[in-house]
This record gives sequence, C-alpha cells and structure tokens, in this order.
Amino acid sequence: MSTGRSFYITTPIYYPSDVPHIGHGYTTVAVDTLARWHRQAGDDTWMLTGTDEHGQKMMRAASANGVQPQEWVDKLVSESWFPLLETLDVANDDFIRTTQERHEERVKKFVQAIHDRGYIYAGEFEALYCVGCEEFKTDSEIVDGTGPFEGLKVCAIHSKPLELLQEKNYFFKLSEFGDRLLELYATQPDFIRPESARNEVVSFVKNGLKDLSISRSTFDWGITVPWDESHVIYVWVDALLNYATAVGYGAEPDEFDRRWPAYHVVGKDILRFHAVIWPAMLMAAGVEVPRGVFAHGWLLVGGEKMSKSKLTGIAPTEITDVFGSDAYRFYFLSAIAFGQDGSFSWEDLSARYQAELANGFGNLASRTTAMIERYFEGVIPPAASPEEGDLRIQRIVAEAAAAADAAIERFRVDEAIAAIWTIVDALNLYITENEPWALAKDPERRPRLETVLYTAAEGLRALAVLLSPVMPESTEKLWIALGAAETIGRLQDQPIREAGAWGVLRPGTSVNGLAPLFPRVEQSA
Ligand code: ME8
Ligand code: MG
Repeated sequence: MSTGRSFYITTPIYYPSDVPHIGHGYTTVAVDTLARWHRQAGDDTWMLTGTDEHGQKMMRAASANGVQPQEWVDKLVSESWFPLLETLDVANDDFIRTTQERHEERVKKFVQAIHDRGYIYAGEFEALYCVGCEEFKTDSEIVDGTGPFEGLKVCAIHSKPLELLQEKNYFFKLSEFGDRLLELYATQPDFIRPESARNEVVSFVKNGLKDLSISRSTFDWGITVPWDESHVIYVWVDALLNYATAVGYGAEPDEFDRRWPAYHVVGKDILRFHAVIWPAMLMAAGVEVPRGVFAHGWLLVGGEKMSKSKLTGIAPTEITDVFGSDAYRFYFLSAIAFGQDGSFSWEDLSARYQAELANGFGNLASRTTAMIERYFEGVIPPAASPEEGDLRIQRIVAEAAAAADAAIERFRVDEAIAAIWTIVDALNLYITENEPWALAKDPERRPRLETVLYTAAEGLRALAVLLSPVMPESTEKLWIALGAAETIGRLQDQPIREAGAWGVLRPGTSVNGLAPLFPRVEQSA
C-alpha cells in the first residue's frame, strides 16, 4: 500500500553505556508516532533507531565493569535497549548498531570519499574534551565546577571535569561550509525546527566555524581511519553516518535513493551535530542534506535535565509497569509542547491518566459500547435524519482529523493530540446532553436513540483511527470492540488522512464487550 512519498525518520542512536531512561523513551515514542501516522497515511515510511557503541564513554563504562567494550555493549543492547522497544510498543523498521560490519564498511567509504575530495588534513590539536558529550568544548560551553569539582573547569551540560587533550589528529574542513550552511537555513526555513532552535544554530554558524577534529589516536575502540590505521574515526562522525549507512549508503544505491534524505528528530543537546556538522559532512561528500532536523526539549526532573550521569534517571518500565505503554506514549506526547522543555512528575502523570485517559477517552468508549449492548442487543444501530447537534459532531470530527494531520506535518504531535481530543470532549458532552438513558425509556424516541448511539460509535471509530499511532494498544482493543476488525479491516490499514470522513462504521455490526481501556491504578507510595 506504500505508494506515496518517501518518509524516512530517525531517532538519535543512543549510547548504550548505561540503561535507557524516560528521555530516550520520549524521543523514541515521538518518532514512532510520527512514523506510524505516515505509514497509516500510505507514505513509503521507514523508521530507524539504534545504538552508538564506540567512543571513550563506552570504553570507560566497560572497563569500570571489568569487561571488554564489545562485551559490554552486547549485554546492554540485548538486555536493555532492544527490550525498550517492546516496553514502549515501538514499530521501528530497522535497528542499527555502529559495531555492525555494514556500518563500519560504509563509514570507511564515506570518510575516504571526503578525504579524496580534499576536505581532510592532518594537524596538531589541544583542547578541553567532555567524555559525557564526546565533544571538544568552546569557552561558552565551559563553566566553573562546584562541590567536589571546585576550582576545575566543567562541562555546562554534565557538570563533570573536562580533560585537556593534545594530539595529532585528522581534521575536517568544517570552516569552509559556513556560507553554504547559512544559505541552506535561509532557503529551507523548515530545515531546523522549531524556530528557537533554528535561530540558535544560525547565530552559532554566523559566529564562524572551526575545523573539526575527526580522528583519535590514543585509544582504539572505534572504526579505523582507512588511510591511517593508527587512528580511529571520531565517535560523532561515526555515529552521524548511521543515518546513511543504515539505508544503504555506499552499498545499496537503489535502497539509498528510495529512502534518503531523512528527517532527524533529536534532543536539543545534540542539535548542532545534526544541523551543522552533519549537513556539512554530506555537502563535502556530494550527498543530499537531510530534509530536516527537529529538536525537542528536555525532560526535567526537579528543574534539571534528567540524566543517568546525574542520577536523576527514571527507567521507562517504572511508568509502563503501572500505567501501560499507551499511557506512557500519550502522557509525554500530549503533556509537553514538542520543542520545549517539560517537567516530569508522578503527580502530573497520575492526574492526566485519570482525567484524560480513564475518565475522558476510556469512559467514552466503555459507556458507548455498553449502551449499544444494553439498548440494541449489541448491534450498531442505523442513524436516522441528523439534527444540528449530530451534524456538529460530524464537523468536529472532520476538522479535528484535518488539524491533526496538519500538526503532524509540522511534527507537532502534541498539537495533533490536542486537536483529536476535541472529539473526545465533544462526544462526552454530546452524550451527557442527549441522555440516551432517558431516550431509551420512550419507545417513540427510538430513532433518536439510534442516531445518538450511531454518532457516538462512529466518533469512536474516528478516534480509534486517529489515535492508533499514539496509543496502538488501546485503540486496537476499541477497534475490536466496535466490530470494525471484521467489517472494515485492520486498524493499521485505515487511511488516516481520510479518518474525518463520516459514516464508515456499518450499522448492523455486532460490538464486542470492552474491558476498561485505562483501569484504575493501584499506586504504592
Ligand atoms: O547523544 N530529555 O546519545 P545519548 C529529553 N549517541 N530527551 C532526552 C533526555 C532528556 N532529559 N536525555 C536524553 C547521544 N534524551 C549520541 C547521539 S546520534 C547520531 C548520536 C534523548 O544516549 C534525546 O533524544 O546521550 C537526546 O538527544 C538523546 O536522548 C541523547 O542520547
Ligand atoms: Mg547524552
């Protein structure tokens, strides 16, 4: 069914030096939701995620645990990072690991290509390095340490001491790309989103770019530089290339043509790598730049960026074990404006679960199907001639579906959910106002009761389709309860850009019992 345009979308590839936390989960479910939406719209969709396994951070994590780096990453990836995708119900099409042979070979080809094109030279270097970021730091990114690090220079992000590195390295002529990058940002205003991220990158590039050290010779956990075996390729160059190597760069030209260029969704911590270094690398190689980079904000815990290195990390399973994967996805994607920071708290999560999922969407689904069972022996009634209130619901559904699709085009999953939620709210109000339980007592009002319950059920049909990229599990249950799986087909095959059309659900279809979609949770303190 994928006859439409190509839509290739990626998450960052995460460092498996440690276990995943809810920040990694956040990016991953956002990308999965965007991918599911496009897949359901018939676009030729491909979603990539993976792990970034080289570099010093990984070497140190392995040695702290007394094992070799490969052993350490194999263990973390199989025990924690693959399972994360199950935990969060992610339907990725591929998973790349930078220690895979396909990746290593293609990275060498790429680096050799930019070397051959004259963009690499050997030079001397001395600068402060943050192993947490795997990045050399400039003055504005360095702050004075406090507490145990009093008197030392520390990374503004990790608050950990920087290390002075003096090496002979190979350099990439990043400084030559400033003008071309500024032209890219000017001619493709959507290349960097949101606007605030774009402005930050534009002013950074306007300040002038320095050449980039792209190799290291003091350790060997990495991909060897093809023309000099005593160096390994800088972990960020290796990592960024995953987006191209995974879809066949340097090996499968047809696949690469079909997928490339990609959309990248990243946290704002790694925006510059994606919006400055990566497109410059591609320009140097003569490869098309990405379609766009969307930088989302940070999940804050107690006002600080949540991170493992600061021991504020929360494992995704702590949430999914209690609330389920749909609630995880819904909560982070609806409660935080995509592109801005958002504070996580258990109180906020519980409150939204109760109000929006249990009492809002869940209750709407339960009471509608229960009334069809009670008043129509479980068979969806036909709709008689609609009144203004019924037509109003039809309009709200059509408008919400169109607004949600437009929001997804802007990568604003939060706004898409807000648009879809106008249907939940309107239908709950509609049921309250129309009082089907009162209509049911009067045989003369039977046609009216039919219309009201058909309208509610058909509204739920639209909700199942529109929310399935966000909450694949509960919408599937609802789809089955509406009897739609047998009569209309699989939920994931329902064309999402036509979800707002009215009258899809067939009268005469038998509904099936529906257990509460979002049961009451027992929370231990
Ligand atoms: O940077 N809030 O990997 P990483 C929101 N390997 N998102 C967060 C977050 C938070 N508090 N913490 C992490 C790397 N993330 C490199 C990437 S890509 C070629 C290489 C998410 O394991 C967010 O997406 O440190 C952030 O950009 C990413 O995890 C960083 O993951
Ligand atoms: Mg990080």
